[in-house]
Amino acid sequence: RQALKSLKEGTGKGSDFLGWLNLPVEITSEQLADIEKTAAELRARTQVMVVIGIGGSYLGARAVIEALADSFHNYENTGMKVIFAGHNIGEDYYHELIHYLQNKEFGICVISKSGTTTEPAIAFRLLKELLEAKVGKEEAGKRIVAITDASKGALRTLADQEGYKTFVIPDNVGGRFSVLTPVGLLPIAIAGFDIKELVQGAIEMRKACIDDEKSIALEYAVARTALYRKGYAVELLANFNPKLHYITEWWKQLYGESEGKENKGIFPAGVDFTTDLHSMGQYIQQGVRMLMETVISVGKPHYQVQIPSDAANLDKLNFLAGKRVDEVNKMAELGTQIAHVDGGVPNMKVCMPALTAQYIGQLFYFFELACGISGSMLGVNPFDQPGVEAYKNNMFALLDKPGYEEASKAIKAKI
Ligand code: PA5
Repeated sequence: RQALKSLKEGTGKGSDFLGWLNLPVEITSEQLADIEKTAAELRARTQVMVVIGIGGSYLGARAVIEALADSFHNYENTGMKVIFAGHNIGEDYYHELIHYLQNKEFGICVISKSGTTTEPAIAFRLLKELLEAKVGKEEAGKRIVAITDASKGALRTLADQEGYKTFVIPDNVGGRFSVLTPVGLLPIAIAGFDIKELVQGAIEMRKACIDDEKSIALEYAVARTALYRKGYAVELLANFNPKLHYITEWWKQLYGESEGKENKGIFPAGVDFTTDLHSMGQYIQQGVRMLMETVISVGKPHYQVQIPSDAANLDKLNFLAGKRVDEVNKMAELGTQIAHVDGGVPNMKVCMPALTAQYIGQLFYFFELACGISGSMLGVNPFDQPGVEAYKNNMFALLDKPGYEEASKAIKAKI
């Protein structure tokens, strides 16, 4: 409760990064309308949008889009395909992406708060060149939108110079807490999903959690912290719905980057069940007892599929005939939780009634608030990420970036 109080009063560590606490209630209908209008304009000009970004400038949008999209038809029901770049430095990935885009009407949504992150900057350089060569500089300018800082960074300078449409990431919102800013909302709107519903969900969860000293965000933060203090150093976020895979990736970043510092913090890991029960299930059941598990349980699927009867019954599955696939999945979920508790893995459960934009908005706010509370209880600044610089400095030194001459000599001597 003290941690929640310090978050609300802005008296804890990193208090200049608390803008996310009020984002859902502060975003205006004009801002949402501008995002939706821009998304509609981009959809009218393109068949494919490439969303460029990494970390907090990538995972929230992907999490929502993958959760709400058809598993096989992508987002083409809206006449639009959204794909991602700038989240890796894979040469083959970029070769294949350029090849794929060659004959497509495409546009680019480039996202970087700092405006200087290497991975998205490389992707943008490659795709901007391709787009300008394909459709000319003027049309390319109409198909590129930049989401970045209001005044700082290379992307801001470039966007202003080229006259791109831009959206601003507020100063007081860190990357991994930015899904409810244009960082998440514009790509989600481009994919054709309802951003108002998403924000509405976050508003609801905020109302339910922010002033209530018995809120579920406090309950979750307290439970995982108590377990950590008892020696459970790893938290598995488990789902039984493949559409949640990127929600887990988003959660891993949120908690890993917020808590893993000063030689402390729960290691956040993710598993997709039942898939991973056939790979990681053995370790979870009987490996080192350092695991706690949080299951995201989705109440109702959107569709119904029944298991058919089979006259020969060679697979001996007729006892399931007439049951829905989800009935089997739910029993797998319950059976797994009981097995894991019996095996010494403390188990928590977060229930979502269904996989909709509204409930995803609730889930985001719930996990963000709980993360702020947990991080404060851990005694760290949950809103910085100083450790991320180490690999960057080494990479720049190894690549002989101007200004890194001394570091370059030092690192090369180590090899
Ligand atoms: O949460 C964070 O702050 C990071 O994960 C950033 O989002 C990530 O490093 C990308 O940074 P930027 O948006 O400045 O390119």
